[in-house]
Amino acid sequence: MPGTSVIGLQWGDEAKGKIVDLLTEQHDIVVRYQGGANAGHTVVTGGQTFKLSLIPSGIFRPQVQCVVAAGVVVNPASLLDEIEQLGSRGVTVGKNLLISDRAHVIFPWHFEEDRLLNERCAGGEAIGTTLRGIGPCYRDKVGRSWAVRLGDLYRDDFRQRVEQITRAKNAMLAGFQDAQAPATLDAEAIYTQYRAYADRLRPHVADTTAFLLDAAEAGQRILFEGAQGALLDVDHGTFPFVTSSNSSGVGVSSGSGVPGRYINRVIGVVKAYTTRVGGGPFPTEQDNETGDHIRRRGNEYGTVTRRPRRCGWFDAVAARYTARLSGADVLAVMLLDVLCELPELKICVAYELDGRRTTDFPSHADDLRRVEPIYETLPGWQQEISDVRRYHDLPTKCRAYLERLSRLVGRPIEIVSVGPDRQQTILVRS
Ligand code: GDP
Ligand code: IMO
Ligand code: MG
Repeated sequence: MPGTSVIGLQWGDEAKGKIVDLLTEQHDIVVRYQGGANAGHTVVTGGQTFKLSLIPSGIFRPQVQCVVAAGVVVNPASLLDEIEQLGSRGVTVGKNLLISDRAHVIFPWHFEEDRLLNERCAGGEAIGTTLRGIGPCYRDKVGRSWAVRLGDLYRDDFRQRVEQITRAKNAMLAGFQDAQAPATLDAEAIYTQYRAYADRLRPHVADTTAFLLDAAEAGQRILFEGAQGALLDVDHGTFPFVTSSNSSGVGVSSGSGVPGRYINRVIGVVKAYTTRVGGGPFPTEQDNETGDHIRRRGNEYGTVTRRPRRCGWFDAVAARYTARLSGADVLAVMLLDVLCELPELKICVAYELDGRRTTDFPSHADDLRRVEPIYETLPGWQQEISDVRRYHDLPTKCRAYLERLSRLVGRPIEIVSVGPDRQQTILVRS
């Protein structure tokens, strides 16, 4: 029974960190396999709140091996900072963290490019990236000519590579004449800085693909921690308002190097409503009192950028699509307590597009922008549930909401979360 993956089925921030922390107990290894420091995963344990960007949410159990696999893009400064921050709060990060020598490295030019291109894309609407250099680094990875992997930092020709790429990037950045003048990048300073990072990271750098294959073949229990959400998947999400990696379930194997045959359980994580940070269509968005209430009650502000998250009703059309795409076996429904005070709740059960009712999720962002959500209205339960620990102790109307949601998505609910703490969790079948 080796592999479980935890995948966000919306636009990110579904509380994957909480679920991974919870499931870590039953696993030997926890793996981040895509994305980078655009992710912000929150773990609340022992009265302390931790925000993780690159380090797997399994790090709080010292006997568990954490792995940052090949498909992740690594900003060494941010990773070292995270290691230090954890250390200062009593969480030791040593040999229990391995980082792939194949992971691509984020450089200062990637930040410049993210800043310059973010606002220009997508026919007038900004993607609203996290400005962490993620897209530009993945672009260089696929383009190959200007890419640097973590293992390259230890090679003899690293200085030469930095000089060569800096020259090219400075020429390219100078082309953005109408933009705020980009800084000129200094190859020598970058080289010195990254050599120092390389020295500090050395104890963690390994061939994680080989490590994970050995572990999978030996029957070790591996937990794969998705970042972002399936609707942000570069191939299957709401392109171009997506991130630059395969953030749905289909990305687990490519990012980690572990074949699908070793992943036999997929947990699809959803909020009991929907949020989105950044630009792009969002059919069930409530840019009104309801949205403001959800934002306030759910503290819906970006973990990474602190931007207010856009809030809206649960979209069962989108979640059904991503549950299928990600191969979700079961659902974890999170932040259910946030809906406690609302007198009635809506679930989007279908879209109307060009006068036709459909439950298909459109492949083009412009079509998604044009859909009219068709809602079903359910009564709210208007009762606090944060202290409930057993499914049958939830109010009847609350269970009716969950059961409807589950039926529409087409997956059973295995976990319900009623608060940020590890303890505030209901295992449905127990
Ligand atoms: P992730 O990126 O998917 O790991 O999610 P984030 O950490 O960005 O956002 C989830 C937020 O919801 C965090 O602040 C969590 O502490 C919080 N949270 C998790 N589960 C619950 C819950 O059931 N109820 C409430 N009220 N907050 C929760
Ligand atoms: P976690 O793992 C929510 C969004 C950004 C932007 C788009 C592209 O915490 O769920 P990028 O910087 O990746 O190029 O930005 O993707 N985005 C996220 N939204 N949660 C995340 O991660 C996100 N990571 C990226 O807001 O719209
Ligand atoms: Mg997050």
